[in-house]
Amino acid sequence: MSAGGADGREAGLPEASLVESVGVALTGLLPTIARGLFAPRPVVSRVLGALDIDRRAISALSSLRRERGGEGARLFGGRLVVLWGTQAIREVLDRSAGPYAADAGAKGKGMSHFQPDALTISRGAQWRDRRVFNESVLAASERVHPMAERFLAVVGEEVERLRIGRELDWDEWEGLFDRVTLRVIFGDRAREDQKLTQGLKDLMAEANRLVGLSKGGTYFDFYGRLEGYLIDPEPGSLVARFADAPQTDDTRVAHQIPHWIFAMRGTLGTITYRTLVAIVADPDVERRVREELADADLSAPSALNRLDYLEGCLQEGMRLWPTTPLLARETTEEVTLAGERIDEGAQVVILNTFNHRDGETVPRADELWPERWTGGDPDPYRFNHLSHGSQDCPGGPLVSLLGKAVLTRVIERYALTLLEPDLPAGEPLPLTLDPVDVRLGVAEIESTGGEV
Ligand code: HEM
Repeated sequence: MSAGGADGREAGLPEASLVESVGVALTGLLPTIARGLFAPRPVVSRVLGALDIDRRAISALSSLRRERGGEGARLFGGRLVVLWGTQAIREVLDRSAGPYAADAGAKGKGMSHFQPDALTISRGAQWRDRRVFNESVLAASERVHPMAERFLAVVGEEVERLRIGRELDWDEWEGLFDRVTLRVIFGDRAREDQKLTQGLKDLMAEANRLVGLSKGGTYFDFYGRLEGYLIDPEPGSLVARFADAPQTDDTRVAHQIPHWIFAMRGTLGTITYRTLVAIVADPDVERRVREELADADLSAPSALNRLDYLEGCLQEGMRLWPTTPLLARETTEEVTLAGERIDEGAQVVILNTFNHRDGETVPRADELWPERWTGGDPDPYRFNHLSHGSQDCPGGPLVSLLGKAVLTRVIERYALTLLEPDLPAGEPLPLTLDPVDVRLGVAEIESTGGEV
């Protein structure tokens, strides 16, 4: 049981009433599934946006915390636990893939349809085996990836080859990330292999259903195509690093790649687009970004690494609009969490949409404030857009490298104006920013600095 605090509120994980539990589930948890766990459902997202559902979730959780205190709350008699205290979040994320498994529930069921042996839905010894492989190929512990120079050249060429009219739209941006992803992972010869990325998109759209899933032609065609690139890996690509990466039969190397594809072309593509929008929306931020770029050699990984203000913008883009709105874990044994006994089989949820935008604990929660990240993570385990602990994102350094590379090349080449949506500088940024709703006006900048 939770102990009572001096203010009458409880410590630990107080129990929420049924009404409070239903309120949090309806506003904070179910919308994530309804929006599409693996492929966005634009119509549902629009309806939920019109209902201002994320704001309702924030207000439901704020009032629960105000009423009861604690590091989080036990909902529905403890079968579901929602966390907001960084201490409790740390306890869970540091023991992720062990007593707190990420492979259960909707995520495990859906992902098994297109990547049954992926790291993110593995646990125990298999997870450790696959994690070492992923960390090695992605160079997770190195600030700058050993292949960074080639990856920057790929981004430079792809941005150069863009032929944008007067407006930049989401389709063009997705196409750019598609080509960058294919060349980075598989090499230049894969540049036009949209059949591969489309195959994965189709499988992920099917996985949204969660029920009645079975492996058919699309699945086998996709893995057949993908494995073709592993037979004779192209030098300079991520798959060329496989030969030197630690692995066993359990690693299932081909099954680690789909996550990289969707995280690079989809997740990173979305994040950089939103970040670009937020930069362009605020003339002061844009001026500071351009000042930082002015003398930088954008083909040098070390120079890109030093762009701290732009790094802050990217981190803010991820914090403001987390692409993983919630981190879900299932207890694989009875655990003690925040001093409370939690049964095996309980669902533990970390709601990024609340923790990142909660104005009571996060200063300037609804603003793009790049300086928040000067000097590193300002509040470890609160902002989990790349997660923390044992199952944190091993693609983090690539996210910074490729994200900043695309942003710098686009900002260097184009003068941009945000036509839609209307995001007045100094006003709170909205809780959702759907890339398809964005219209960006574009004019090419001559290399001498003047506009065409
Ligand atoms: C902006 C882009 C990205 C974001 C916001 C992001 C975010 C995340 C988050 C939140 C997790 C933890 C998910 C969970 O535990 O439920 C994760 C895990 C992971 N990410 Fe990323 N990611 C990004 C890009 C990438 C890239 C580019 C790669 C690879 C090239 C990658 C590879 C992975 C892998 C393999 C895992 C599973 C780690 C494990 O379970 O041990 N991610 N990512």
